[in-house]
Amino acid sequence: MTNSGTKPTRVMVINGPNLSRLGTREPDVYGTLDYAGLADFCLKVGERLNFEVDVRQSDSEAELIGWIHEAVDGSIPVVLNPAAFTHYSYALRDACAQRTATLIEVHLSNPAAREEFRHTSVISAVADGTIAGFGERSYALALTAIATAS
Ligand code: DQA
Repeated sequence: MTNSGTKPTRVMVINGPNLSRLGTREPDVYGTLDYAGLADFCLKVGERLNFEVDVRQSDSEAELIGWIHEAVDGSIPVVLNPAAFTHYSYALRDACAQRTATLIEVHLSNPAAREEFRHTSVISAVADGTIAGFGERSYALALTAIATAS
């Protein structure tokens, strides 16, 4: 089901620290698509799924937590790339644990194939699922998963 013909479902795409640097940040790892391109890609995928996609990025843990609270209070599905907070932010994890709608953790790269500190996600256990390693397509897969969630 893709929610066609009904009011668009609002979905938040939340990006953590350093993701605003995409395009020039370690392009061998993260590719050459910049953050504006990633946001535009998410909006276009969202349009096809009849989602009203709200794409945000912050380097601040407090701001990210506030946005998760907003999603919790509004029962808004979330695609979350916690970036480095993935690996150690219990505060962000505790916010995600309160989810009231589907929350999917995404990564552009495949952290499991990288440095050891990236092998731990403190977020995964409080997400509905994790999609990693497909570049911007990780986000498209997550949005599609939300569209097909029963
Ligand atoms: C990332 C992977 C994290 O380990 C890293 O800290 C990031 C980006 C990814 O999308 O591949 O900032 O979340």
